[in-house]
Amino acid sequence: MKPLTIVVTGSTGTQGSAVARLLTERGHHVRRMTRNPAAPTDVHGDLDVPSSLRDAFAGADGVFLMTPLNSENEVARGKAAVDAARHVPHVVFTSATNADRGTGIPHFDTKAEVERHLTACHPHWTILGPAAFMAAGGPVTLPIPPDLKLHVVAPEDIAATAVLAFEQPDRLRHRRVDLASDVLTGPEMAALRGTEFVQVSPEQAERYNPDLAAMFRYFTETGLDLDLPALHAEFPEVGWHTYAAWLARAEQRRPPGRGA
Ligand SMILES: NC(=O)c1ccc[n+]([C@@H]2O[C@H](COP(=O)([O-])OP(=O)(O)OC[C@H]3O[C@@H](n4cnc5c(N)ncnc54)[C@H](OP(=O)(O)O)[C@@H]3O)[C@@H](O)[C@H]2O)c1
Repeated sequence: MKPLTIVVTGSTGTQGSAVARLLTERGHHVRRMTRNPAAPTDVHGDLDVPSSLRDAFAGADGVFLMTPLNSENEVARGKAAVDAARHVPHVVFTSATNADRGTGIPHFDTKAEVERHLTACHPHWTILGPAAFMAAGGPVTLPIPPDLKLHVVAPEDIAATAVLAFEQPDRLRHRRVDLASDVLTGPEMAALRGTEFVQVSPEQAERYNPDLAAMFRYFTETGLDLDLPALHAEFPEVGWHTYAAWLARAEQRRPPGRGA
C-alpha cells in the first residue's frame, strides 16, 4: 500500500512510542509529536497550544490521538486536538475500556466527553478503549480482591490495532473497540512475574489517588464488559499477547545487567 503520513501524539509515551515504532516498521511516514523535539522525525506539538497542533497535523493522512492522564484538562486538550484535526482524513483516539458507559470514574468520563466531541465533529474516526496496560517488575499491588480477573492489554496490541485502523479504514472507521489482550487475577499476574500479590485496601487506594480508586472500585463492583474471544477472533492479525508471552518479550528487551 502507499505509505501514509501519520502524526503520533504522545510519541514519547507508552502507547505513542509503540504506535510510532510499528508504523515506521511498516514503511509509513511518522511525525512523532512531542513538546520537546530532538530527532528529525519529531514534530513540535503541545495539546495546550492549539496553533501548534494545527501545524503538526497539516497535510497528514491520520492522527493517533492520546490524552495524558490528567482529568482536569483532558477534555480541553482532547477537544482542541479533535478541532485541529478537522481536515485530517482519519483520527484514531485511544480512550479506555468502557469509558463510554457513564462509569463515574473521573478520567473515564473525561475521555467519554472527548469521544462525543470526536464522533460529533469529525467525519472519520476510530475509538480504541484499552484496558490496563501490561507491566513488568515489582510486586503486583492493587486494590482488588485476589479472585477478581483483570483485563490487561499489551501496548504493542494497542499499536497493532491502531495501525490496522489506518491501513484498513473500512474495517475500523466509525467503530469503538475496547481492547484487552489477556484477563487474569492479581495473584496469577504476580506468579508469572515471579513476585507477590499485595492487596491494598480501598481506603489506602482512595488516599493515594481517588480517581484510580474509583476505577478499581468499578472493576470490582461492576466489572468491565469486554468479549475477549470475539475481539481476538475479529482481529487475529493483531497477534494478541498473553501476559506470559508479553513478559517473556519484555525480558528479552531488557538491557543486560539491569534488574527488574
Ligand atoms: N496506564 C494504563 O493502564 C492505561 C489504560 C487505559 C488508558 N490509559 C490512558 O492512557 C493515557 C496515557 O497514555 P500513555 O501511558 O501512553 O502516556 P504516557 O506514557 O504517560 O506519556 C505521556 C505522553 O503525553 C505527552 N504529553 C504530556 N503533556 C502533553 C502536552 N501538553 N501536549 C502534548 N503532549 C503531551 C508526553 O509527551 P512529551 O512529554 O514528549 O511532550 C508523553 O508522550 C491516559 O489518558 C490514561 O488514562 C492508561
